Amino acid sequence: MFEIVERQEMAQGTIISNWIKAPKIAAKAKPGQFVILRANETGERIPLTMADTDPAKGLINIIYMVVGKSTALFKTLQVGQGYLDVIGPLGQPTHLEKVGKVICVGGGTGIAVLHPITRGLKQIGNYVYSVIGARSKDLLILEDKMKAASDEMMICTDDGTYGHKGFVTDKLKETLEKDKDIKLAVCIGPVPMMKFCAKVTQEYGVHTLVSLNPIMVDGTGMCGCCRVSVGGKMQFACVDGPEFDGHQVDWDELNLRLRSYTSEEKVSFDQFKAAHAPGCSCSR
Ligand SMILES: Cc1cc2nc3c(=O)[nH]c(=O)nc-3n(C[C@H](O)[C@H](O)[C@H](O)COP(=O)(O)OP(=O)(O)OC[C@H]3O[C@@H](n4cnc5c(N)ncnc54)[C@H](O)[C@@H]3O)c2cc1C
Ligand code: FES
Repeated sequence: MFEIVERQEMAQGTIISNWIKAPKIAAKAKPGQFVILRANETGERIPLTMADTDPAKGLINIIYMVVGKSTALFKTLQVGQGYLDVIGPLGQPTHLEKVGKVICVGGGTGIAVLHPITRGLKQIGNYVYSVIGARSKDLLILEDKMKAASDEMMICTDDGTYGHKGFVTDKLKETLEKDKDIKLAVCIGPVPMMKFCAKVTQEYGVHTLVSLNPIMVDGTGMCGCCRVSVGGKMQFACVDGPEFDGHQVDWDELNLRLRSYTSEEKVSFDQFKAAHAPGCSCSR
């Protein structure tokens, strides 16, 4: 078992952070890489990016949003309990390079994925602008960590409860307009956010990395489930990615593939919620 040693609920319990004992993974992991976890023998294999690691203590940190059956099951795991398996590190690490000025843009739980990359880019001497956003103030995560990893940080909320009222693309555009020396953008969040960020950066000719989240099964390039089209070529996000050139991604295809099992996922989540409703003694 991979034991949970620290657990925190964020964003009103919709986002969970776990520090997990996984010394071999912690020793090897690099920014941008992910793990695949299973809660129990009948559990689904769920890919989650490592938001942080502590190699000295042999710990990895995952931060996930509760969106369906498996992440709801993960949420029930408490300190002292754990995951049956955690496989990793998987995927290609982010290519961290000193280019001068960079802008890192994160939305929702994408901020957790973005944080180690932002920190890595600053550590090697880049000047880092960051823009983080959420639907409202209560749902914004890792503000302090992102601030520490950035030279300048901007905050956006859709409803205007904190920072700029509007989307992260507004501040991305404003910053690219103001500073023509920015050489790289790293944009991570929901698919529509990444797609529109890439559209903005394309106007300014700024190279853009995005982290794709297609449905994955094995995570080792064997099943083909995570295939995405990038620059007209088929790529497997688990072994070739998950980061790709945002200007080359076929976003419509990714969207379509992500929605392949929506009705089955809803049935499964509804059954889970019914089985775990207060007063129900059954368990699925
Ligand atoms: C490389 C990678 C890294 C990721 N990192 C994070 C992270 O750090 N934090 C985070 O909150 N989420 C992350 N995700 C997304 C996360 O894996 C899904 O939210 C999770 O699998 C949903 O499972 P579920 O059973 O709770 O929900 P479901 O109801 O099964 O699905 C909800 C949505 O999640 C997606 N999904 C479902 N199953 C999978 C699967 N096996 N693989 C990928 N996507 C799936 C589908 O688009 C689906 O519509 C990552 C995905 C990938 C591919
Ligand atoms: S998840 Fe199977 S090939 Fe990528």
